[in-house]
Amino acid sequence: MPRIVRKETGAATVTSGNASRVKDDNKDFLSFVVLGASGDLAKRKVIPALFALYYQNQLPTDNFVIMGYARSELSDEEFRSSLEARLTCRVDERESCAGKMEEFLQKCFYCQGGYDSEEGFERLNQKLLVQEERYLMDCPADWNADANRIFYMSIPPSVFLPAAECTSKKASAAKGWTRVIVEKPFGRDSETSAALNEGLAKHLTEEQVYRIDHYLGKELVENLIVLRFANLVFEPLWNRQYVENVQIIFSENFGTEGRGGYFDQYGIIRDIMQNHLLQVLALFAMEPPVSLDAEDIRNEKVKVLRSMRTLDLDDVVVGQYTSRTTSSAEYPGYLDDDTVPEGSIVPTYAAAALFIDNPRWEGVPFLMKAGKALDKREAEIRMQFKSIPGALYGDKSLGNNELVIRIQPEEAITLKISNKVPGLGMDLNRTKLNLQYSEGYKEFEFPDAYERLILDAVNGDKRLFIRSDELKAAWEIFTPALHKIDNGELPPELYPYGSRGPVGAHYLASKYGVRWSM
Ligand code: NDP
Ligand code: BG6
Repeated sequence: MPRIVRKETGAATVTSGNASRVKDDNKDFLSFVVLGASGDLAKRKVIPALFALYYQNQLPTDNFVIMGYARSELSDEEFRSSLEARLTCRVDERESCAGKMEEFLQKCFYCQGGYDSEEGFERLNQKLLVQEERYLMDCPADWNADANRIFYMSIPPSVFLPAAECTSKKASAAKGWTRVIVEKPFGRDSETSAALNEGLAKHLTEEQVYRIDHYLGKELVENLIVLRFANLVFEPLWNRQYVENVQIIFSENFGTEGRGGYFDQYGIIRDIMQNHLLQVLALFAMEPPVSLDAEDIRNEKVKVLRSMRTLDLDDVVVGQYTSRTTSSAEYPGYLDDDTVPEGSIVPTYAAAALFIDNPRWEGVPFLMKAGKALDKREAEIRMQFKSIPGALYGDKSLGNNELVIRIQPEEAITLKISNKVPGLGMDLNRTKLNLQYSEGYKEFEFPDAYERLILDAVNGDKRLFIRSDELKAAWEIFTPALHKIDNGELPPELYPYGSRGPVGAHYLASKYGVRWSM
């Protein structure tokens, strides 16, 4: 069973059964190209993640460069200064942070050009060649070193295809592999997503494409497979015989704040549910994979997605937040955002009931809820078990068992149980078996999701990236309902900024005999 163990040296140890070998790609040169390097995601997430990996010695030292590419006119120095403020030494007490940061910044270069400009990508190619050849010329011939390239598309989806074409035609690695990390959104529905996939396929093989969903890089999401398949106690209960319902919940206590222009083209179902929450659901509900190989895991995910019922509009509630004034602050409504078109009916909140028609999950409601500008920020999975048969404790019964996997903040896994209160009587209370990561793993560092995923892309590990057939299945579940919502067939219920969202979500849950957990 191949498994990638991240190593201090930047090499990846691939263990396969009892055999173990070190994949000696340490001697290859790695160019990490960030398209859209002047943008929000590049500066806030991608390049800080690269620095964190570099600081932890997870990337090559001498044989590595970062090349920013965007239309803005910037010198290398200006690019470096634009990054500097965003880099932090999250990992304490190793080497001098300032020294390591300076070393990292010296590896950052910039090339100006358009995303559809072959001439710009040719210039990018020449700049990369200068760095690569400097290294390769000094390498002993018997190393037979390659010069590999990763392109991170941190650009608006409107320019994904021209950028892929120019990358493939003008800037692919001449000796070594070329990989392209593509950011969501992967289309707006089945049709546009298929067109995007076909467009990418003209210039890149599926092997080269890494579709990133950063929720798959979160610690507790990656842990789902371990929790399910490395513990005997859970797997026998993980099915329709014992499980009453599953809830997958995402909420943010802030609104679109400046990203309204982007958000209004997509809405909460496309922004969060169809990708982040559905990916979590697929990992949660899939059958045991044959091995931990990327293809075996993705085969099981796609099977579960294909077994899901197309979402019915009767099983959806949508909402949009309005302004709220308190004694201390004024919170703007969605329509108050200058970048949102007047009168928009795009949902900022949605609740949905989904079903998996397979032998394991037939009849179990999977309830999803996602919203912006709510009362708190959290993401969690809640699995509520059925009630205990018989009436041994009669009225003293305190509710069903519940397994809670808190993805963020304050990562935790808790199992709610009924327990006897200590003493001479026979009083029961509801308590928790509780793994709080901040306590149980006090001395461990928690990598950002982007760090994990970027490192996996460097190592060629596609376990946590989305395959094209998964994407197709995911869009098929949501597309008909999305088209109806776009056509105004389900107007959003209004809810005040900072509230718990539309009351309709409670009616939807009660239709299936469920109460949303708190
Ligand atoms: P930005 O809007 O900041 O765009 C990135 C860069 O692309 C800009 O700096 C700009 O660089 C260039 N650009 C902007 N608009 C256009 C345009 N209309 N045509 C051509 N180039 C343009 O995006 P983000 O950094 O926020 O996001 C990048 C990608 O990642 C997007 O696909 C987004 O959906 C996705 N994403 C973003 C997240 C985030 O938190 N920001 C989260 C998850 C996904 P220049 O003008 O210098 O060329
Ligand atoms: C992004 C969405 O994919 O995920 C944003 O586009 C959302 O709207 C963000 O805020 C949430 O990510 P996280 O990791 O902060 O929960």
